[in-house]
Amino acid sequence: MSFRTQPLPPARLNRCQLFGPGSRESLFEKMAKSAADVINLDLEDSVAPGDKDRARANIIQAIGDIDWGDKTLSVRINGLDTPFWYRDVVDLLEQAGERLDQIMIPKAGNAGDIYAVDALVTAVGRAKGRSRRINFEAIIESAAGICHVEEIAASSPRMQAISLGAADFAASMGMATTGIGGTQENYYMIRDGQKYWPDPWHWAQTAIVAACRTHGLLPVDGPFGDFSDQDGFLAQARRSATLGMVGKWAIHPSQVALANEVFSPSEAAVTEAREILAAMEKAKAEGAGATVYKGRLVDIASIKQAEVIVRQAELISS
Ligand code: COA
Ligand code: MG
Repeated sequence: MSFRTQPLPPARLNRCQLFGPGSRESLFEKMAKSAADVINLDLEDSVAPGDKDRARANIIQAIGDIDWGDKTLSVRINGLDTPFWYRDVVDLLEQAGERLDQIMIPKAGNAGDIYAVDALVTAVGRAKGRSRRINFEAIIESAAGICHVEEIAASSPRMQAISLGAADFAASMGMATTGIGGTQENYYMIRDGQKYWPDPWHWAQTAIVAACRTHGLLPVDGPFGDFSDQDGFLAQARRSATLGMVGKWAIHPSQVALANEVFSPSEAAVTEAREILAAMEKAKAEGAGATVYKGRLVDIASIKQAEVIVRQAELISS
């Protein structure tokens, strides 16, 4: 065991990130009134190349004009492989109000990508005398990104979260699918003549969770494209939560409540976590490191597991 203790992630809710294209400004008020913890105004792939300038101007205006409440407000800039990204950063930092919390960097391939954006954000921020710190979130959605996920997580003190972008990731990896997240028809195993469908995103998700947890960031599951398939969304989100992710994107408003449900611990889970903590307090007072709760072993590791649930419940109720 390393002598370094694992850093805690930022103490904020990130159960659902609701996306909307910067070119559809009629959605912005609705996004602000939604129950999502994080709002992502998009300049990247939901905006056509010819619409980038207009989307940028819309977003800059909306950052100041709309009441975003206590939400984390994030703008997804264009990738570093495009001619658009530097203008996104410069215009946002020069012209948007101080309400902007975060910049989302798509298609991050290595720590140098984050460094480049950091250098530009820092320079323009200083030149303009901005006082509010701008944080970063990155999307892992390429073979290079997943290979370098740990250095990306460690790349800047601005980094707060990493999401998995399933569609671009699948394309970059050459995966034989056009689906965005979820189980895939041809990714199956057979047992006793019965087919079942394992999770093709499992490895990438787990790699992101490990990198985020090592460096105190929030691991987030990205989009689930088929927004008419609520059961599919719930299944994907529950798998992500089980693996340690803290939230999921919504690309349609109907997905917000589903994500909030999955990533908020149930009352029963919170009660059980508190009971485990109480049982371990009692055991400690009696000089024991382990005890029995509801017929099963609980020990010092159970305290840490229970604390994850209690911390999340406290964030939700605060
Ligand atoms: N945020 C808030 N409200 C939204 C919304 C969003 N992202 N998308 C749609 N709505 C609103 C609509 O305006 C409509 O409101 P109304 O009832 O007041 O008329 C209602 O929700 C139902 O919308 P619907 O007709 O089902 O969807 P649509 O055809 O207008 O749009 C999408 C569907 C998928 C194109 C749209 O949801 C969208 O652009 N999503 C985000 C895409 C994105 O940002 N992708 C990048 C990340 S992968
Ligand atoms: Mg993408």
